[in-house]
Amino acid sequence: MDSQIYGVSKHLCLIMFLALITIAATLQDNPATKHSTSSNSPQINSNSVLVALLDSHYTELSELVEKALLLQTLEEAVTVHNITIFAPKNEALERDLDPEFKRFLLEPGNLRSLQNLLLFHMIPNRVGSKEWPAGALSMVQHKTLCDGESDHLSLTLHKSGEKLVGLGKMIRPDDIVRPDGIIHGIERVLIPRSVQEDFNRRRSLRSISAVLPEGAPEVDPRTNRLKKPASPVPVGAPPVLPIYDAMAPGPSLAPAPAPGPGGPHHHFDGESQVKDFIQTLLHYGGYNEMADILVNLTSLATEMGKLVSEGYVLTVLAPNDEAMAKLTTDQLSEPGAPEQIMYYHLIPEYQTEESMYNSVRRFGKVKYDTLRVPHKVAAEEADGSVKFGQGEGSAYLFDPDIYTDGRISVQGIDGVLFPVEEKTTVTKAKSVAKVVAKPRRGKLMEVTCRMLGALGQDSHFSSCH
Ligand SMILES: *[C@@H]1O[C@H](CO)[C@@H](O)[C@H](O)[C@H]1NC(C)=O
Ligand SMILES: *[C@@H]1O[C@H](CO)[C@@H](O)[C@H](O)[C@H]1NC(C)=O
Repeated sequence: MDSQIYGVSKHLCLIMFLALITIAATLQDNPATKHSTSSNSPQINSNSVLVALLDSHYTELSELVEKALLLQTLEEAVTVHNITIFAPKNEALERDLDPEFKRFLLEPGNLRSLQNLLLFHMIPNRVGSKEWPAGALSMVQHKTLCDGESDHLSLTLHKSGEKLVGLGKMIRPDDIVRPDGIIHGIERVLIPRSVQEDFNRRRSLRSISAVLPEGAPEVDPRTNRLKKPASPVPVGAPPVLPIYDAMAPGPSLAPAPAPGPGGPHHHFDGESQVKDFIQTLLHYGGYNEMADILVNLTSLATEMGKLVSEGYVLTVLAPNDEAMAKLTTDQLSEPGAPEQIMYYHLIPEYQTEESMYNSVRRFGKVKYDTLRVPHKVAAEEADGSVKFGQGEGSAYLFDPDIYTDGRISVQGIDGVLFPVEEKTTVTKAKSVAKVVAKPRRGKLMEVTCRMLGALGQDSHFSSCH
């Protein structure tokens, strides 16, 4: 008996030791995160360019810097040298970036690509707009904070007098100036070769023909401006335009855009996929209200079907019947209210329980876009599960992966979510009766078993079978 316990704990020690070595090796391997575990973090000056970045209107960039766990690396950088940050405007990161490329960057397994992409926008010295290479055809190559061998940034002065960073036009020179660095606003995202290659490799692995996330830029000879040709969309590839551009205009939704490059291409039978998941919800049980709403609100189901037909992906956070029963007539009676509530539960990404759980574990807090623009839904880890929303208005991931077909994912939740701004009125209207929490899946046990399985040690734990 003793020896068996001893045997098991010896195995556990070995596994933990191996895990530690792996973690240490990973950290050593990546200069970007090398220092992120040091406990004595440097004191950051409130006058620092980093603090200014986080407070600035470059909200998309700052959010990504936080998501990429780069703050400490950058704090350490500014204590030893000045930095220059080329900050893409929000729209460049939000709408102009190929959705699949963005999805690639945000996958937890691609953290290093995300870090490299962001660090490629920063150089380890101070280059004000006055220090820009002068005279046409002059160009200065700069090393960046990104660790790719060939990832240098060239600063050039175009004939037209425009300052260029790589292929990006500077639109707000010296936008933020601080004692330890400068931020210039630029018009587009700069993609280092190494990250581009990672992305292409991943795509070809998935046997989808590789396309560049952005068309090769050219300068239009007449206007001397960079022009961006529409990149061809291969059959089966996700659409070029952000999902909002494909949505039908409606209350609080983005206005209908001009038809974009690529245009609709119907390769998927989205409508039958939507019918399929509604059927699944009905059979699953406990989600009749949600299924009902989807059947009754034909416009919503049609819209979802259309988006999926065009190649977009969706994750549906489906509140269960208990949660729906708590909605008051007040909340449902306003014109368009049920649609608005539903749109807030649609995430324009394909997420499974595992991918969401991994993100909240890695990043702490994650914000997902919803089809109710511009509202996002927050997610965090809680009790070994994923919790959406905040405070009273929060909901747990309750029935994971009710339906997953690669394009539509349905995740059952135990509450109805509302955007933060409306929460106060909502909680007033609601007579809250707490949902009794069903025991959640033992995530920790699952991970432990997977680790043990990988090491061939699972036989000691009967609960892994
Ligand atoms: C950053 O640049 C400023 C102005 O050139 C200089 O005074 C300061 O010492 C530099 N800071 C560091 C940490 O090198
Ligand atoms: C859907 O429509 C049916 C029949 O018109 C109605 O009985 C039901 O209450 C509606 N469900 C919802 C959730 O609106």
